[in-house]
Amino acid sequence: VNYSEEDLYRPNFHFTPKKAWMNDPNGMFYYNGYYHLYFQYHPDSNVWGPMHWGHAISTDMISWTEQPIAIYPDELGTIFSGSAVVDISNSSGLGEVSKAIPIVAIYTSSKKLEGNDNWKQTQSVAFSNDEGKTFTKYENNPVIDNDKIKDFRDPKVTWDDDRNKWIMSLAAGDKIMFYESKNLKDWNLLSEFGQGIGGHGGVWECPDLFKLPVIGTNESKWVLFVSINPGGPNGGSATQYFIGDFDGTTFTMDKQFETALNEKHDYWIDFGRDNYAGVTWSNATRKNGGKLMLGWMSNWDYAQKVPTENWRSAMTIAREVQLQKNENGYRLISNPVKELANYRGRKYKKENIVIKDDTKIIDAESIDLAKTEIQFNISNLEETTYTFKLSNHNGEELLFGYDNIKKEFFINRKKSGKTSFSEKFANKITLAGRTSTNDNLSGTILLDKTSIELFYDNGETVMTEIFFPNTPYTKLSIESKNQEFILDNIEVHELNF
Ligand code: FRU
Repeated sequence: VNYSEEDLYRPNFHFTPKKAWMNDPNGMFYYNGYYHLYFQYHPDSNVWGPMHWGHAISTDMISWTEQPIAIYPDELGTIFSGSAVVDISNSSGLGEVSKAIPIVAIYTSSKKLEGNDNWKQTQSVAFSNDEGKTFTKYENNPVIDNDKIKDFRDPKVTWDDDRNKWIMSLAAGDKIMFYESKNLKDWNLLSEFGQGIGGHGGVWECPDLFKLPVIGTNESKWVLFVSINPGGPNGGSATQYFIGDFDGTTFTMDKQFETALNEKHDYWIDFGRDNYAGVTWSNATRKNGGKLMLGWMSNWDYAQKVPTENWRSAMTIAREVQLQKNENGYRLISNPVKELANYRGRKYKKENIVIKDDTKIIDAESIDLAKTEIQFNISNLEETTYTFKLSNHNGEELLFGYDNIKKEFFINRKKSGKTSFSEKFANKITLAGRTSTNDNLSGTILLDKTSIELFYDNGETVMTEIFFPNTPYTKLSIESKNQEFILDNIEVHELNF
């Protein structure tokens, strides 16, 4: 068979632009039945270049319909990452009487300076009176000017319900700056956070500050996402988080959290290499307080070289983020949004399978392994390595699982297919610890043509990675080299796409 790029690599259920280059998700909001997703977009090429905001809409965050480009570069610069809010009270005055509630986008205008490699980065506003289809630039842009700070970008605005004002988090090199506003146009600097705190292997980008209830309690904490590139736990770009409190002016880390962070920084929303720049949806908090998000499913280490030509990059599955507290303190958990379950079709279920050596679980004759959701549970862990293996007829394989001797999760792309486009792509990653001391292992696995998303232990440890086999994977097996074990149950759902 001769596979086209579309056949082999266009994801079945992850958003990709029809053509050209995409990076960060931007401006996500929910309004009037639709989830909106804008994204960093270079329509003229399959590598990064002058940024626009592309646009897609969905009623369930799973099936997306691409829309015309929403925001174009102007004399202040190209349109870098940012956010959008539903300005319900028309606090900005940018709404037109008798039209829909205004949507206000706040983004970075980024302009290359002449004679050197630096950018002038300022913050700008654009508004939409047609529910996010088209935007008009605010006439007095930029709303936050800047001549001093080199990396000064990615404004994420959120409504602070306790104090009735808008709060902006902004990345500024090695720290986050917080601003407040009553009208989304005039902004006052409140405070800074982050120098010497957390991961600093690279520049800080794409922050997000929001309040989250602690599951099963009346308590809430404030969560700060900070993406970092490079300096991720497994190389390249990744997103870390901090837990604390926000008093309307200052974000202060929780003491216990701070101690744990200083001991060992393993506060990453995803330990895989391919989930970056993720932020939450505005106006879309779940009834239980959970927040919705997705990320860019790639890594700056190799994103511009992955083996697709017509388009480059996909987004992760949309996820619900919650906060839990256990004996080790606060931890974010994230899981695929429940809407995904509406796509379940054919199902394969097995219980009490004895696994020894390489044991086949299922193959492509029963279920298409490129649109698959799997749940599994192993209740008694043995002293062994649990290796899941996706493979094809060419001898290509993607390995992932849990090493219960070293106590670490892993993904190994060494023989996964095309890997030579970047020397940073192939190697095995292992830096994903367990955050609780379970002696069972459970997980959800999402498989598409070029991606795997792993949610272990109810979403405590998440790993997302991409891969490019030369022919589709056709078999899923599990192997345990040292010792046989019992797979208590496994459910494989083929998703209808
Ligand atoms: C993150 C990022 C942002 C920036 C955008 C430019 O991936 O570097 O900081 O706004 O991409 O496309």
